[in-house]
Amino acid sequence: MYEQVSHSLLNEILLALNPEILRQERMRYFYTRLGANFYSIHSLFHLLYGDRDDFREQMQKLVETMAMQYIARPENLKKPDLDRENDHNWFLSQQWVGMALYSDGFAENLKGLNAKLSYLQELGINMLHVMPVLDCPPGRSDGGYAVRDFRRVDERIGSLEDIKALAAAMRKRNMLLTLDVVLNHASDEHEWAQRARNGEKAYQDYYYVFDDREMPDMFEETMVEIFPETSPGNFTWDEAMGKWVMTSFNSFQWDLNYSNPAVFIEMLDIIFHWANHGADIVRLDAVAFLWKKIGSNCQNEREAHLILQLFKDCCQVTAPGVLFIAEAIVAPVEVTKYFGEDAINAKECEIAYNATFMALLWDAVATKKTDLLNRGIRSLPDKLERATWLNYIRCHDDIGLGFDDTDIRLCGYDPVAHRRFLINYFTGNFADSPARGRPFAQNEKTGDARISGTLASLVGLESALESGDEEAIDASINIILLLHSMILSFGGIPLLYYGDEIGTLNDYSYQQDEHKSHDSRWIHRPTIDWDKAELRKQPGTIEQRIFSGLKKMIAVRKEIPAFADFNSRELLAVNNPHLLAFSHFDHQHESSKVLVIGNFDASPQHLDLKMLRRMGFFQLDGVRDLCTGESPPTFNDQLAIPAYGFYWLADTHS
Ligand code: GLC
Ligand code: GLC
Repeated sequence: MYEQVSHSLLNEILLALNPEILRQERMRYFYTRLGANFYSIHSLFHLLYGDRDDFREQMQKLVETMAMQYIARPENLKKPDLDRENDHNWFLSQQWVGMALYSDGFAENLKGLNAKLSYLQELGINMLHVMPVLDCPPGRSDGGYAVRDFRRVDERIGSLEDIKALAAAMRKRNMLLTLDVVLNHASDEHEWAQRARNGEKAYQDYYYVFDDREMPDMFEETMVEIFPETSPGNFTWDEAMGKWVMTSFNSFQWDLNYSNPAVFIEMLDIIFHWANHGADIVRLDAVAFLWKKIGSNCQNEREAHLILQLFKDCCQVTAPGVLFIAEAIVAPVEVTKYFGEDAINAKECEIAYNATFMALLWDAVATKKTDLLNRGIRSLPDKLERATWLNYIRCHDDIGLGFDDTDIRLCGYDPVAHRRFLINYFTGNFADSPARGRPFAQNEKTGDARISGTLASLVGLESALESGDEEAIDASINIILLLHSMILSFGGIPLLYYGDEIGTLNDYSYQQDEHKSHDSRWIHRPTIDWDKAELRKQPGTIEQRIFSGLKKMIAVRKEIPAFADFNSRELLAVNNPHLLAFSHFDHQHESSKVLVIGNFDASPQHLDLKMLRRMGFFQLDGVRDLCTGESPPTFNDQLAIPAYGFYWLADTHS
């Protein structure tokens, strides 16, 4: 793209660059990438900030930030940048299997985590999301998401050196490191907030501050409450500043104001800082909230997308090998927009959390039916090429029941009553439910609630162990494996959650901690019991059954090219309300197909093989389950699928 206005501006900017930058050799790739992306960077920056008097100055600063961080980027990271540019579909491969963990919960601290990488490799994990490691005020940390210093590692878990050592060790083991950049807000103890409190106007402009309630009241008319019990409303009165400040999440998390280009540039610099310390992937937190507008719910605004596009374009110049994950827990029609508008222009994040699939899987667990799951998957808009899902069952956050009301109605349920049933089911208020979850963020005004709890406790392992019911123990283990078989085969990067691989139960100790007791999400942020983890080596234990089941599945997934995410999934209508069935073909050999079937019912189900043959499967000869390597049982040309069982099927000789 050659466009005169932006090109002449680029020339001016380059001429005015700081001599330190100009003196650098080896800037060739930087200039090539800047030239290729500048039109887009300039257009976006202009759309967002073009009406400001200091636009030109800010633009210069933006380019200098990209250049300085390119210079700071270690040579050993520039090589993977080039490799990934050449092999730009690298992250779509079925080889990647992720896990999210808190380094202190998993292994005390960052050094401990480094020493335990072999455990993760034993399972087959090669992508790690190490949850926030940055300095937060103790007790007012929101689990690491209320950052006081975006460049300082929390000293209780380690140092910058430890991060560098971890990144280096992971690179040697061919594992990817994911770190968070909490974009939307910062702790009220961050230096910027302190300076705002001291009356520095420049820093008050980093936030949304108001003298009186006039504007906040207008915003409140349409904004929703994220933490209604603990932090109602979206504004907090700051006594020292004598002003109201916007706080969409907790009252101690001040929302950053992206209508100020200085904020954009600061946060870009922080993204580069972590990219340069070895993050292969940056998880961008709460991206739906980046732009606030009166009269809207302040989520998913067009400008939030422009900001993400601009972050992406700038990152392509300085650190093109680095991927973004969008954490946007929003409606299905909105979530795919975080990939961008198309794969080349207006690109945003390569990866996004598939919260829709997660919530739908939980619906299938509670109802033992796949009706809503099937509809929900069908209603999920197609995603772009070169974009992929992060498929997960549990994470450090709650389970929100964010599926589409229309889909719920089409399944014959009333949306309000159905959600209430699910909450009751998972929080143990439903007679027949073995689940041991806790409600989270109950909103008395709207009746909404979300769910906390570990995977094992939610699927009944905790209650089964208490009652000593062997059958119920088996069932819960099978559900744990079934759910993982779905995220491992759906298409995208599966993201396991630490502790789930050994069936970790709820941790109730948070109730005794005054800083945590109000937030039930702490119930599922465990400290790993390494004695329990050792039991994975002892045949017949629960830990061994889960761990080895997952390990096997992960190893098999990596061998199935059809599971690479080239948008090849096809959902199949199989006429059985308890089954989910979909297929994938190998993008290089279209005739090579895998059929995934999961049974969410507590009784065995069957499926007509003739129907499957008519659909184009297993025409030549027999059927083989890739996970076990064996032929699944059939009777009268019916395929039998055990209670909570699953298959990854292929032709016997494929
Ligand atoms: C992100 C985090 C969540 C946190 C929220 C606010 O969504 O995943 O844990 O509470 O941001 O900081
Ligand atoms: C909301 C937000 C999400 C956050 C979560 C924390 O769902 O959309 O970003 O992680 O709350 O509970």
